[in-house]
Amino acid sequence: MRIMLTGRNGQVGWELRRALAPLGEVVAFDRNEADLAKPETLAQLVASVRPHVIVNAAAYTSVDNAQTDAALAHRVNAEAVGVLAEAAREQNALMIHYSTDYVFDGSSSTPYVETDPVAPLNVYGASKLAGERAIENAAGDWLTLRTTWVYGPRGRNFLRTMLRVAGERESLRVVADQHGAPTSARMIADLTAHVVAQAQRERNAGEFESGLFHMTAAGQTTWHEFARAIIEGARASGKMAIKATSIEPISSDEYPTPARRPLYSILDNDRFDRRFGLGRLDWREGLALALGDLLEQ
Ligand SMILES: NC(=O)c1ccc[n+]([C@@H]2O[C@H](COP(=O)([O-])OP(=O)(O)OC[C@H]3O[C@@H](n4cnc5c(N)ncnc54)[C@H](OP(=O)(O)O)[C@@H]3O)[C@@H](O)[C@H]2O)c1
Repeated sequence: MRIMLTGRNGQVGWELRRALAPLGEVVAFDRNEADLAKPETLAQLVASVRPHVIVNAAAYTSVDNAQTDAALAHRVNAEAVGVLAEAAREQNALMIHYSTDYVFDGSSSTPYVETDPVAPLNVYGASKLAGERAIENAAGDWLTLRTTWVYGPRGRNFLRTMLRVAGERESLRVVADQHGAPTSARMIADLTAHVVAQAQRERNAGEFESGLFHMTAAGQTTWHEFARAIIEGARASGKMAIKATSIEPISSDEYPTPARRPLYSILDNDRFDRRFGLGRLDWREGLALALGDLLEQ
């Protein structure tokens, strides 16, 4: 099996290089080699690779910058995704893509299912939603996996930010009214590898159905509780000097950002669990593993 991977230096892309390797040949591209800001270049690139599977881990992920950079966010997260999905169809390749809880407005108080109405609060969420629709419209074989609150030992993410500031400051203030499931890049990649393997078996047997799935860590928390777990874990390891003694819970209103975020981001994973039958780690277990990796470095 030949797998074309985009966004290979991102949090998820990096982990995918390891997780997909046992499945076959992974042809992995960074931003320079497969630039989603230039959708017109992508069909030819896919044709030259002749993949059986495309895993698109590239995205414009800077949620706040997207507010003032909407055209680029749309090009990368929607237009280019449509081109990749069409190129996948041309090659009879399976397209795997990631989307986000930010397609929802967070007004629910029960976990979102895939068919719940979407209403993005920000430009990033709207661009990712347009990407979901572009894949569907291309009408090849595809799976879109919506995930949430991604973190890992690399890249820009909440885990690394908290460890840095906890080493610098005695007192932190962290938003406590947004609810989500922090999901490690490593778990996303491991689950994706199993999904690819199963999907290819289904395709070979003529039993494959494209679709949208929620795929996150189990359990739920807030940014504030997540910060506490990170800092307690780092302190308990004894491997890092932690200054922070106070972690104050604040509201989103007290921490204004250019892009509004949903207050409730919990996704119901039943559909994913029923189709793929894979175990998903609780967010605390995922955090323990990621902290272990990071503090070893
Ligand atoms: N991060 C989250 O909290 C979160 C939550 C829900 C869903 N998701 C989705 O999960 C997927 C993986 O996200 P992630 O957390 O791994 O993101 P990430 O760490 O920000 O990685 C994104 C990757 O995309 C690359 N990229 C950006 N613009 C590009 C372009 N024009 N052409 C090609 N590559 C480009 C980046 O390249 P550089 O390395 O050169 O910057 C980076 O390697 C994305 O679809 C994202 O929307 C993320």
